[in-house]
Amino acid sequence: MIKRKWYVCEVILKTLTMLDQTITVWGNIDQLKQVLTNLLDNAIKHSEAGGAVRVVLGTNNNDAFISVEDSGPGIPKEALENIWERFYKVDKSRSRRGTGTGLGLSIVNKIVEMHGGKVSAESEPGHGAVFTVYLPSAEQA
Ligand SMILES: Nc1ncnc2c1ncn2[C@@H]1O[C@H](COP(=O)(O)OP(=O)(O)OP(=O)(O)O)[C@@H](O)[C@H]1O
Ligand SMILES: [Mg+2]
Repeated sequence: MIKRKWYVCEVILKTLTMLDQTITVWGNIDQLKQVLTNLLDNAIKHSEAGGAVRVVLGTNNNDAFISVEDSGPGIPKEALENIWERFYKVDKSRSRRGTGTGLGLSIVNKIVEMHGGKVSAESEPGHGAVFTVYLPSAEQA
């Protein structure tokens, strides 16, 4: 009989939305969903049980932005510019955090670029990571 080891990680998901404003962007809905799925998957995967993942939506000049913030271990400074490369992984071990192919962020970067936007990653090691996707708001297109 094969025994599987399940990892239990309850993560609190917090969303902060601006209710008095509708933010519209043009784009391919499946690809934009893929962007968010990848960022949320990473944020949850790198959170401890009881950790919080925060999603913030807003505008900045002519851009709409959405950021995904976690309270995990963060990303070392020297790795921050490499995480966008295909197959790059900070943690190459076979731990739960090490699962995955290392393709998610390269896909995120490609899709966001194709939509005329940009994506940034910020992290203070030990204090989580914040990924922010900026897309031109539909009013400016
Ligand atoms: N929120 C995060 N906190 C800490 N490290 C992260 C976070 N997001 C990404 N990383 C690091 O960046 C690497 C690349 O992320 P990416 O999403 O491209 O690959 P993956 O999650 O390992 O695999 P895949 O997305 O293909 O399933 C990860 O392996 C991890 O080391
Ligand atoms: Mg990933």
